[in-house]
Amino acid sequence: MDSAQKLYFYPVWLRIWHGLNAIGILTLIFTGISMQSSIESSQILAFNTIVKLHNLAGILVMLSYLVYFAGNLFTRNGQFYIVKPKGFLNKPMQQAYYYAWGMFHGMKAPFPLSEKRKFNPLQKYSYIMVMYMAVPIVIITGIALLFPEVIIDKVYTVSGVFVTAILHATMGFFISVFLIIHLYIASIGKSPLENFKSIITGWHQVH
Ligand code: HEM
Repeated sequence: MDSAQKLYFYPVWLRIWHGLNAIGILTLIFTGISMQSSIESSQILAFNTIVKLHNLAGILVMLSYLVYFAGNLFTRNGQFYIVKPKGFLNKPMQQAYYYAWGMFHGMKAPFPLSEKRKFNPLQKYSYIMVMYMAVPIVIITGIALLFPEVIIDKVYTVSGVFVTAILHATMGFFISVFLIIHLYIASIGKSPLENFKSIITGWHQVH
């Protein structure tokens, strides 16, 4: 018998944001990597088309980010992102130990999810870093690169456009690495597809 309790973790606005954001970020990663390749003949689409797609995906991510930001500001979802000083380092360490060793040796998850806890401490930190640092920096530097005339000429002796582009690409790389880990972590559960179903239906099963 399955003693699962169902929690409504992902309201409609969050699922819409997540879907649009995932499509946008995946397009940005593929077109971004493609733009860095200088061998045009090896590309599937023409360079100009790739640039247009990258810009469109950037606008999609920016607009959907506004939904995410407002949603977390005005609904109770934002509470799940609050970090408390107690156990600031200890809690994520416990979770890391569980991921690295415990879960392969029958240990129980140290921070089981509940109505009050939607993320484990490591998830919480990584979501905060990606959504309140990396994505905003990518959006702001992306807008600046669309209108390079707004960028300051020089940062000390280095071109301002160059510094902006490096920051943009570095954060893009960070988000790409996050995405790989995100997909792996999301596949850990009672069954590998369970969490993926949750982000589509809104309901999460607590066992
Ligand atoms: C193919 C792409 C993606 C898939 C399949 C996917 C899958 C999931 C799943 C299953 C969850 C719910 C379980 C969990 O919290 O781990 C989730 C939540 C989340 N994802 Fe993704 N994700 C994708 C892309 C992304 C990207 C690109 C970002 C950010 C740049 C992102 C950020 C988040 C955040 C912040 C949450 C928690 C939202 C909340 O409940 O407040 N995801 N994702």
